[in-house]
Amino acid sequence: MSKRVGILTGGGDCPGLNAVIRAVLVKGIRNYNFKFIGIKNGWSGLLDFEWENLDRQSISGIIHRGGTILGTSRTNPVKNPEVKALAMENFKKLRLDALITIGGEDTLGAAMELYQAGINIVAVPKTIDNDVAGTDYTFGFDTAVQIATEAIDRLHTTAESHNRIMILEVMGRHAGWIAIYSGIAGGADVILIPEVPFELEDVVQVINARRERGRSFSIVVIAEGACPKGKKDAYLKTDKVDDFGHVQLGGVAVALAKDLEKMTGLDCRTTILGHVQRGGSPTAFDRFLATRYGICAVDMVHKEQWGYMAALRGTEIVPVLLEDCIKAEKTVPMELYEVAKVFFG
Ligand code: F6P
Repeated sequence: MSKRVGILTGGGDCPGLNAVIRAVLVKGIRNYNFKFIGIKNGWSGLLDFEWENLDRQSISGIIHRGGTILGTSRTNPVKNPEVKALAMENFKKLRLDALITIGGEDTLGAAMELYQAGINIVAVPKTIDNDVAGTDYTFGFDTAVQIATEAIDRLHTTAESHNRIMILEVMGRHAGWIAIYSGIAGGADVILIPEVPFELEDVVQVINARRERGRSFSIVVIAEGACPKGKKDAYLKTDKVDDFGHVQLGGVAVALAKDLEKMTGLDCRTTILGHVQRGGSPTAFDRFLATRYGICAVDMVHKEQWGYMAALRGTEIVPVLLEDCIKAEKTVPMELYEVAKVFFG
């Protein structure tokens, strides 16, 4: 019997979301005769009852398009009992048999709670941060790393011409995956990540060692969530928080530049890459990975594997228990940071 299947994209957008939606619809319509309902703007669409019928026409020509045709938000559907009850009620009102939720830690945490309350949910991990546990890579990450690496390559030439310290701030709230991958790929001289609070003196030592070797410029890559040892909130930009309690980050590079100029006497300039890492067309790797995630998600709906998440393990895409993936973020392992440190200075 054909199912009515809802699909939503929640949290920060990223390249690859549309490739997931496309794969879900192509296989769901062609192989399973599913009827699809697109929930608009993440969880807020379920609460505000904003949705649209989706068909093959809806997903024509979108595999390469960034963003999400459904829209997204950081709305929390389980913020309090009243909001959660409205989410449950509207799920029933839409007469849905299942809901495919595509998102990061916050979206997936809410999905788990609604699954436990009785909604048939399957999940797809999404974030440029690559910090969702249980899966080797999230789509969006490769594109962000490519964008950041290209930025580092460009900063090298201008840093050398002006004998400056160039500080590139990349995204990564709790985990420094973008910083470590793009830093290594771009040949950065220092990489600072949230997992390893840093000593300013150590950064200065690397810069001075380079100067002694006649290299009077340096490239520092810092994740927006990184901070000096013992000064967790020193570099926070605002105290604005979103629906899930996350403070808005951004600006750690500017604070670091002030400190380094004082301590080295060298000219510093900063580049905050920000949402450029979230925009534009996905890389081929992300389109391919996102497509495979979408196929796994719609197969899980067909097999009624509720409470599961599609996960990349090595080169395989497999269903894993969602509850095992939302307990804590996946952070950069120290052995990988040791690899990065080989090239510091
Ligand atoms: O969660 C992905 C992410 O890009 C983080 O790296 C970043 O801190 C956050 O989203 C930015 O959120 P917003 O787009 O709501 O400003």
